[in-house]
Amino acid sequence: MASLGHEVIGYDIDSTKVEMLKAGNLPIHEPGLDVILNAVLQSGNLQATSDLALAVSDADFIFTCVPTPQDEDGSADLSYVIAASQAMKDLLKPGAVVVTKSTVPVGSAQRVEAAIGRDDIHVASNPEFLREGAAVHDFENPDRIVVGARSTAVAQSVMDLYSKVDCPKVQTSQPAAELIKYASNSFLAIKLSFVNDVAALCEAAGADPREVMHGMGLDTRIGNRFLEPGPGWGGSCFPKDTRALASIADSFGLQIPLINAAIASNETAHKRVADRVMNALGGSLVGKTIAVLGLTFKADTDDTRESPAISVIERLVGRGGKVVAYDPMVTKYDLAGMSLADSAVSAASGAHALVVLTEWAEFKNIDAKQVLAAMSGKVVVDARNIFNQKTWEAAGATFPNTASSRSV
Ligand code: UGA
Repeated sequence: MASLGHEVIGYDIDSTKVEMLKAGNLPIHEPGLDVILNAVLQSGNLQATSDLALAVSDADFIFTCVPTPQDEDGSADLSYVIAASQAMKDLLKPGAVVVTKSTVPVGSAQRVEAAIGRDDIHVASNPEFLREGAAVHDFENPDRIVVGARSTAVAQSVMDLYSKVDCPKVQTSQPAAELIKYASNSFLAIKLSFVNDVAALCEAAGADPREVMHGMGLDTRIGNRFLEPGPGWGGSCFPKDTRALASIADSFGLQIPLINAAIASNETAHKRVADRVMNALGGSLVGKTIAVLGLTFKADTDDTRESPAISVIERLVGRGGKVVAYDPMVTKYDLAGMSLADSAVSAASGAHALVVLTEWAEFKNIDAKQVLAAMSGKVVVDARNIFNQKTWEAAGATFPNTASSRSV
């Protein structure tokens, strides 16, 4: 928002983050964001403070970007959103617009209005559609901007903040905006679960899943994006948001079985990778060392929350395997039975199998001969389909249960 020319004051209850931002340091890895941060700090468009009154008292718009973690029953925990609303309610100037960026269940805008309890304050919902690792690109080139508000004037005032961003801008009711966010993430998760189920079928039937996805994606009704098979989907959004949508449906007494099927399919996807490794190693992982490439839930982030890689590793370790993992962005992760290496070759040293769980670009060009020479076995399970299988096979690798390894 600061790079669009707005004067932004960031507030956080965590003063460490405030101090980091002031010093031009990011608490997360996000490609391209450091350049923007330093530019807007220098231009003076971005300040950071630990003083809530300083941040909100003079603001025309207050964006609430606090977490909505998963509660014990799978529903979204709104307590941070409500606490933030209550903390600022007496500080806001008349006419201010409180904009919810946090992913919140349908009906939350009304709860925020109640928590603020002032007729002279407006509440709008402006869901966030950024992908980690591509957040800057997605902010600058969004497919759409959605604003839910009670009046057109309030919605328009929020949309005007994005006047320099060229994309469709959609005005909706508050509940519609809240549901668009959950429905979008859940639809994408369902799409990926289907992709992973079909990929498993491809492997069983001797077809290359990439050829199948390419052929499907050319149908414009299906679309060629978000069709990459993998070890399952993860991260801080899809797992939490799919469970929250199921819980929202429950609260309305509705059955929406597809979402639960997608969640169950995703568990199966994690298990399938572990099964493939175990079968390739003769049916047991006891006494076996497995090299893993990638711990983050996808490439270009340092985020390991709900990472499918971790879920697969837990299964490998749970079945008696020893795991040595390498990830370019992870230098510390405590998991019994797993140790970290500082390169792909050192992770591979003495391993019986090599498993790719995150699609980091640097893994694509690893020297197959060097890695295989360091290993004591030759099994390669590429759950992200990033290796050139022919090159690896020429270097001696065996790819269990893939199209070219079968004689169908
Ligand atoms: C997701 C949505 O894509 C964003 O639109 C949304 O704003 C965000 O959640 C959020 O709610 O904040 P994100 O969790 O950052 O973004 O990551 P994605 O790129 O969607 O990937 C999610 C998972 O699906 C990852 O584990 C990724 O590896 C996997 N994936 C994605 C695949 O396995 N195949 C694909 O083709 C795409």
